[in-house]
Amino acid sequence: MALRSVLTGVGSYLPERVLSNAELAKRVDTSDEWITERTGIRERRIAADDQRTSDLACEASVKALEAAGRDAKDIDLIIVATATPDLTFPATAARVQAELGVSQGAAFDLQAVCSGFVFALATADNFLARGQAKAALVIGAETFSRIVDWEDRGTCVLFGDGAGAVVLEASEEDGDRGVISTFLRTDGRMHDLLYVDGGPSQTQSVGKLRMVGNAVFRQAVEHISGAMLEACARAGIPLDEVDWFVPHQANQRILDGVARKLGIDVDKVVSTVAVHGNTSAASVPLALDVATRDGRIKKGDLVLMEALGGGLTWGAALVRV
Ligand code: UT7
Repeated sequence: MALRSVLTGVGSYLPERVLSNAELAKRVDTSDEWITERTGIRERRIAADDQRTSDLACEASVKALEAAGRDAKDIDLIIVATATPDLTFPATAARVQAELGVSQGAAFDLQAVCSGFVFALATADNFLARGQAKAALVIGAETFSRIVDWEDRGTCVLFGDGAGAVVLEASEEDGDRGVISTFLRTDGRMHDLLYVDGGPSQTQSVGKLRMVGNAVFRQAVEHISGAMLEACARAGIPLDEVDWFVPHQANQRILDGVARKLGIDVDKVVSTVAVHGNTSAASVPLALDVATRDGRIKKGDLVLMEALGGGLTWGAALVRV
């Protein structure tokens, strides 16, 4: 019987420090009104000076393992989706592996910026479905506060820190739970719409985030909608059978635009952008965790996740949880 990757647990972590729009308005020429109207964001979390991306990832992973009723020793694959690794190398996933006490299998980072979690989920699904791993931790963890230009009002108001994780387990059971379909795309011609202006090879520095916001916005609604339809088409499941939509949380106007374009009931769209801001690769598993813990997403529900980010990258994953 074919192996399926079943999502057995989800967890997340947010740093304690809350940064409000009002506080940001004291630093740059902006206002609570502009940020709320143009993005839907009211506040975001900021990691403490001594908190690394791996620390956030570990906190989220412990909760996901608890939810799955699994021990770290059961895990033989760890993928950390991040664009803000602790160090240039080794992978943040290697530190997460050591911190969790996992001493088997493989651990590596995956870089697809805001689409990272969807890319990591699809990657782990391939490992599990081919029998190359039994249980995976798929993590999205970011400290974007470290790469944001705090003097650029066009970007610094958007991002926040956090982490989310899921446990995926290979299962031979004859059920319909698991990852049903995924769709991933990259178009490197749009590299310069959203990038960090530093890196080891090009500048020997870390750099700051740069974005042509309105151009990314225009790409987002079109490509996200396309990815969602493609993931459903690959599964042979119509969009209206989906119970919950868990999107990347970049901007409430993007969430609303996609829902309008596809005729989706907004009550089925999980939105955490108001209180999380854009946490890049962490945003999808963070939102998934919120809607699971508050009882909206129940076992057996059909969930469609999607994201778009730097690269540009975009994708969607259809999962029966
Ligand atoms: O996660 C990866 C994917 N990222 C995204 O999907 C982000 C996509 N982009 C967006 O969400 C939106 O484009 C933004 C929220 C970034 C910007 O909203 P916008 O409605 O596209 O504004 P804009 O960039 O076209 O700028 C409109 C005006 C400009 O002023 P002028 O030139 O018209 O005088 C900006 O300078 O808004 C100004 N502006 C601000 N004003 C007050 C830009 N940022 C701010 C600000 N406060 N924070």
